[in-house]
Amino acid sequence: MYPIFRFLLFLLPAESAHVVALKSLKWLQRWHLLKPVPQDPGCGFSYQGLRFKNRIGLAAGLDKNGDYIDALGALGFGAIEIGTLTPKPQKGNPKPRLFRIPKYQALVNAMGFNNKGIDYGINQLQKASFSGIIGLNIGKNKDTPLENAIDDYQYCLEKAYPYADYITVNISSPNTKGLRDLQQDHYLEQLLKMLKSQQKQLCAKYNAYKNIFIKIAPDLSDVEIKSITAQLNKHQIDGVIISNTSSNWPKDIKNSLPLKQGGISGKILLQHSNETLVKMKKHLNKEMLVIGVGGVDSPLAMQEKRKLGADIVQCYTGFIYKGPSLIKKLAKLL
Ligand SMILES: Cc1cc2nc3c(=O)[nH]c(=O)nc-3n(C[C@H](O)[C@H](O)[C@H](O)COP(=O)(O)O)c2cc1C
Repeated sequence: MYPIFRFLLFLLPAESAHVVALKSLKWLQRWHLLKPVPQDPGCGFSYQGLRFKNRIGLAAGLDKNGDYIDALGALGFGAIEIGTLTPKPQKGNPKPRLFRIPKYQALVNAMGFNNKGIDYGINQLQKASFSGIIGLNIGKNKDTPLENAIDDYQYCLEKAYPYADYITVNISSPNTKGLRDLQQDHYLEQLLKMLKSQQKQLCAKYNAYKNIFIKIAPDLSDVEIKSITAQLNKHQIDGVIISNTSSNWPKDIKNSLPLKQGGISGKILLQHSNETLVKMKKHLNKEMLVIGVGGVDSPLAMQEKRKLGADIVQCYTGFIYKGPSLIKKLAKLL
């Protein structure tokens, strides 16, 4: 069924197809036309109060505003990460900003955190009845100078804390100018300090510990990886998500697209994100949760990330190319 639907969807520009696909899914779920995915309890996994019913999660960016949590949840994901959400709503970069590269089973995007704002996302999250884990991914607004980025993260963390199961701090999107600089020692130290002290206060206020994960880029030098992992260890961050999209794309893609910058995802990212995973894993505290993302489009790719040390795996682009049957298969893996 999905190959026919995908054929029709791929006749549309990528961003329009995205909206049509998600609206159709929501409609199917509302009318109880999606078969429930049976879940083997043996596939579950627990970490610091989080109980994942399986190890496959939806990566951030597909449901930025939390409009489709229940529909996506019905496909079998153990966890859904909404966002990136910013303090104020923003339109993102000019369109067209999303492209399919079927030759590489890839997507290139330069969305730029288009979203309806943190308040809207939280409202949607509260309405959802999905029984799995719901993570909320936060970022800074485009017009917030880098020096004040911490204020945006603090604002979003305070808002999200009582409602999300975990919070992801996105400092690795290539589509918001300067964002990746937050991975540098000077900014990262301040950011992590703030996150941990806020987490402590919010934990006392709500009497609930919520995990904070940091999402990093795959385009890091060995020196950067060493200093980031040292900071994550020092501040006892709960987990790391490896990785966001890559800003290194093959020359032939560069020549064929109207975009100058953006992030590439999908099969083509698998090796690159896995290399970063291995390098980070080498230096990270053993008890830190590692979420592997990038290029998962088959059980084999998921197993590969698991073998390299990912406790949980997320996917986005593989789901676009392979459809709901992929999630069913991945949800069965131990
Ligand atoms: C169109 C698109 C939008 C994305 N938006 C976000 C985002 O808002 N926040 C984020 O942390 N990651 C975002 N990502 C990155 C994904 O969450 C994921 O890290 C990346 O695509 C690699 O996984 P994949 O190869 O399975 O797609 C986006 C990816 C795509 C393709």
